[in-house]
Amino acid sequence: MKNFSSDRALKFTESVIREMTRICLKHHGVNLAQGFPDFPAPSEIKEAAVKAIRDDFNQYAITWGTPALRQAIAEKFAWYNGVSVDPEREITVCCGSTEAMISSLMATVNPGEEVIVFEPFYENYGPDTILCGAKPRFVPLHEPDWVFDEAELTRAFNDRTKAIILNTPNNPTGKVFSRPELQLIADLCMKWDVIAVTDEIYEHILYDGATHISLASIPGMRERTITINSISKTYSLTGWRVGWAIAAEPLTASIRKVHDFLTVGAPHPLQEAAVVALRTDRGFYKTLAEEYRQRRDVLLGALENAGYRVFSPRGAYYIMTDVGHFGFRDDVDLALNLVEKGGVATVPGSSFYSHPSLGTTKIRFCFPKKMETLIQAAEKLKGFKNFMKQ
Ligand SMILES: Cc1ncc(COP(=O)(O)O)c(C=O)c1O
Repeated sequence: MKNFSSDRALKFTESVIREMTRICLKHHGVNLAQGFPDFPAPSEIKEAAVKAIRDDFNQYAITWGTPALRQAIAEKFAWYNGVSVDPEREITVCCGSTEAMISSLMATVNPGEEVIVFEPFYENYGPDTILCGAKPRFVPLHEPDWVFDEAELTRAFNDRTKAIILNTPNNPTGKVFSRPELQLIADLCMKWDVIAVTDEIYEHILYDGATHISLASIPGMRERTITINSISKTYSLTGWRVGWAIAAEPLTASIRKVHDFLTVGAPHPLQEAAVVALRTDRGFYKTLAEEYRQRRDVLLGALENAGYRVFSPRGAYYIMTDVGHFGFRDDVDLALNLVEKGGVATVPGSSFYSHPSLGTTKIRFCFPKKMETLIQAAEKLKGFKNFMKQ
């Protein structure tokens, strides 16, 4: 029989992050690989979902999102991000920011056009660009502070550039892009007539005084930025699959068409409950960031004690580490040993780079976990350190 897979599907592999979760389950390990909380979601939001199902919000919603949710998204975007948008014409509710990203790219990028991606990058962006036939152009974020070089970024823009993908706060590095950096990106987008697709799902998870700035709020960028977000990370609801894309009307019109034929819509009762999430008391976000800071500090300490070189994040809930000195063959070898013999699942660094060789000394840990889970992980990391000495 011939190989029935499309050329497109053959160009990328399964998600390494999701694969590490499956391996972790097999070894009954502590999952510090995939970024999802092991603590409960806020009860009032869960109750709102139960009520929405009981009240029979059980049929298709309007394809681009219920009016109440789009209104709540517009209100929150105005207060937190400082950008006013029209919920009728500029918001598309999708199945998580994952679908918002692929729908946005498919709606705007033609085969052969170039899309700029900062590297290391959240692994979905690679397949996302391949699925729309685009050519990714990677611009390195240089450790230890994950800064980009102005000349390298400038060189990445050309006549074929259609879009730049930006993720701030950033997974996997924890970088939070500063205003001067965003201004430079904005200037280049305007110079080369390029759109920006920004993934801002960690916008409330910030440390050490870092502030989140939406690229759409930079003068001149509102009309050429697609801002992507979801309830997954802020409200600990990764399984609900409710996200959205905010963009000017002409962009939104295309995004809505792609979204409609990909998924029809996000789950209706969960959209109703997402309204309650977005209208949460503002103090919630302060507590969220403080609780994540405490978790970050516990994991940073545990990793340092276990001999990892850490890059302390300023946002999001991941810690990149350098493990080149441990003497394993590569990052995959270490990650497999760590989950099988140490009982801690992580993500090999190579899955965040275009060429695996760039990430062979890196391992990513995540910390959206109960304190007791992190303490358990700390014990296991200590045990693995002793195992390595043998
Ligand atoms: C940067 C980034 N974007 C998107 C996602 C997926 O978000 P969602 O659950 O909204 O699809 C993740 C999940 O880890 C992520 O880290």
